[in-house]
Amino acid sequence: SFYLLPVCAWALSSLLPQSKNVTAYLIYSSSVAAGAQSGIEECKYQFAWDRWNCPERALQLSTHSSLRSANRETAFVHAISSAGVMYTLTRNCSLGDFDNCGCDDSRNGQRGGHGWLWGGCSDNVGFGEAISKQFVDALETGQDARAAMNLHNNEAGRKAVKGTMQKTCKCHGVSGSCTTQTCWLQLPEFREVGNYLKEKYHRALKVDLLRGAGNSAASRGAIAETFNSISRKELVHLEDSPDYCLENRTLGLPGTEGRECLKKGKNLNKWEKRSCKRLCGECGLAVEERKAEMVSSCNCKFHWCCAVKCEQCRKTVTKYFCVKKGEIDKPGCNLPFEMIKTR
Ligand SMILES: *[C@@H]1O[C@H](CO)[C@@H](O)[C@H](O)[C@H]1NC(C)=O
Ligand SMILES: *[C@@H]1O[C@H](CO)[C@@H](O)[C@H](O)[C@H]1NC(C)=O
Repeated sequence: SFYLLPVCAWALSSLLPQSKNVTAYLIYSSSVAAGAQSGIEECKYQFAWDRWNCPERALQLSTHSSLRSANRETAFVHAISSAGVMYTLTRNCSLGDFDNCGCDDSRNGQRGGHGWLWGGCSDNVGFGEAISKQFVDALETGQDARAAMNLHNNEAGRKAVKGTMQKTCKCHGVSGSCTTQTCWLQLPEFREVGNYLKEKYHRALKVDLLRGAGNSAASRGAIAETFNSISRKELVHLEDSPDYCLENRTLGLPGTEGRECLKKGKNLNKWEKRSCKRLCGECGLAVEERKAEMVSSCNCKFHWCCAVKCEQCRKTVTKYFCVKKGEIDKPGCNLPFEMIKTR
């Protein structure tokens, strides 16, 4: 909701005078809100084991404050939020939630490629793209390099939704012989869009436009020229990121002290396996091992009729946290068992 607040505030103030747009605002605002929320949830998932983990206070600062940052993480937040809004609007449309939109069948009947024709119900990304653009891009009222950066990354988010759509086909012909197929494009899981944008985040391009950039026509021209020369699929940033190891209250950053990290799990990927190094070791912190006792229901038996009786099982799990060096061996520090109750 933090990213949405300005969306809604803006939409209300600038749409109210025009009665047609008020209706549009009312129709779409709940989808826009749900979409931005899903963008932020995806951000938290994608960055769960990164030093910067999509903290809400930092995001808030980035949208309405003189401390607006313009780094790689800002770029990701804009892209994933804009993608989330477009994705949700498109999905709503396919589900028939809006009277004025449905499947994209504009190409149906046309040859798509060898042995297949367009058919069926393609998700209407054109619709989602247009409406999300109206809502999300309207937040950028400035004409400076930061506004241009945000607009570029909003667009990269929308391109990511389009670029990850999947072709799905159905066979036709005598008893399923598949002599011809009809195919349509559908949205992937939103996770796919998140994975795609995380890759783009790692390769984000830095452009040097902040030094000496005024608001003159000439500098506005230079800004437009620079951004036009970069593919709209790529994320762009203007500044380097701060040191996310350290707490910085001014920037709303919590630092990595106290964060949990992962070690020795069975299903960990490479990025997760390195998380204790990345969050603790490389930030000058030590890793503390804490044991936690999990209590859960187990050995459940069905009794005639009709009750289920379970036993309570206890299992010790080990978790790892980043702590200041020298605080591990203090007596008592490692003792308290957390109790985690699960059902
Ligand atoms: C669109 O979908 C979202 C999430 O799936 C939902 O919260 C929202 O209410 C839907 N909008 C409409 C108008 O049905
Ligand atoms: C917090 O970040 C600001 C801006 O980068 C910097 O000027 C300041 O020194 C930082 N404060 C701390 C305590 O690191």
